[in-house]
Amino acid sequence: MGRAVRVAIVVGARPNFMKAGPVLHALVARGGYAVQLVNTGQHYDEKMAGSFLRDLGFPRPDADLGVGSGSHARQTAQVLAQFEEWLVAHPQDLVLVVGDVNSTVAATLAAVKLQIPVAHVEAGLRSGDRLMPEELNRLATDALSSLLFVTEPSGVENLRHEGARPDRVSFVGNTMIDTLLRFREVALATPRPAGWPERYALVTLHRPSNVDEPAPLARILAAMQQIAVDLPLVWAVHPRTEKRLEQFGLLAAVRAEPRLLLVPPQGYVEFMAAMARASLILTDSGGVQEEALVLKVPAVTLRENTERPVTVACGGNVLAGNDTARIVTAARTMLARDRAAFRVPDGWDGRAAERVVDRLDRFFAEGATL
Ligand code: UD1
Ligand code: UDP
Repeated sequence: MGRAVRVAIVVGARPNFMKAGPVLHALVARGGYAVQLVNTGQHYDEKMAGSFLRDLGFPRPDADLGVGSGSHARQTAQVLAQFEEWLVAHPQDLVLVVGDVNSTVAATLAAVKLQIPVAHVEAGLRSGDRLMPEELNRLATDALSSLLFVTEPSGVENLRHEGARPDRVSFVGNTMIDTLLRFREVALATPRPAGWPERYALVTLHRPSNVDEPAPLARILAAMQQIAVDLPLVWAVHPRTEKRLEQFGLLAAVRAEPRLLLVPPQGYVEFMAAMARASLILTDSGGVQEEALVLKVPAVTLRENTERPVTVACGGNVLAGNDTARIVTAARTMLARDRAAFRVPDGWDGRAAERVVDRLDRFFAEGATL
């Protein structure tokens, strides 16, 4: 028998953990792989990173790069330089990255320059909006990756248009939904926290296009006030957004709204429970659009586009941008929609990570070229 195949899995920001976890567990279960976990530290608060590592059953990371916050160039460069150094000291046969954050693209570039093939989980998603930093990360990561693992049909189509090698594109389904299905029962059994309303709309917001300027943020807050007349809101506030609310002098007024409950970023199971109990979700998150669909909770996405069009096609999501009236109308429309009719996309079945590992087995059996 040959030596174990060395795979480094890179995580760093909140949405990475739920996508990477199932692949890590599936690789370990399969055997024949020596898995290393590298945490870039792009997110570093306990509530944005540490709690997910623990709650999702990760082993202790083999490397903590501790890069923290910074401008795009600085944060990306920090991961690039530090991950390269780590890879040189700890040679790998494959680097596996997930999602579309700065850590994803930086780790990819560091690996391919050392001639280490990269596998990208959640490849092929495109919003078509190059003003979105994640879209640039997706394009660059996919162009450099040797294996492209896709969650929804649009991703396969996008990669085909861009000329990706068909034998390197695998439609596997959604590893983030593997995590959701693993924790769903526990989440559903979690009691409603004291002080939370019985019926509510759940809110998450952190896209720079919504929160980094006062005008769009004010339009969204106005929509939230109108929706709250009929349905109270619970808002799990992202640290970027909290900083902006404070900077724009809005935090005290928002906290004083009687039908709006501000809560800190929630742990994974707590947030899953909060979503499952919600009557409606207002979000600009990528992952939350997908989770809402599987939980059959209607979502209004506060963006003009989505890289996850299957969530709209399956009936669970509608785009509303950040215009006040449009958001309020979309909320009414989605509240009236029949949740039972929402469809769950193919491959969002709890087995996506196993299919990733099946493909990795073949990749290494065939000689693992860049
Ligand atoms: C990042 C990702 C985004 C993802 C989001 C998920 C990029 C370009 N952006 O955006 O794609 O949707 O994570 O949550 O990779 N901060 C803290 N504590 C933390 C982390 C951040 O206080 O643990 C604050 C800092 O002030 C920081 C700001 O939040 O400057 C933004 O953090 P950053 O990682 O740059 O971007 P996100 O908005 O979190
Ligand atoms: N999430 C969480 N607690 C929260 C908000 C989100 O656990 O308070 C989870 C959410 O369920 C999903 C992931 O974090 O699994 C999405 O991350 P985020 O919205 O930060 O990033 P995006 O998906 O937009 O990149």
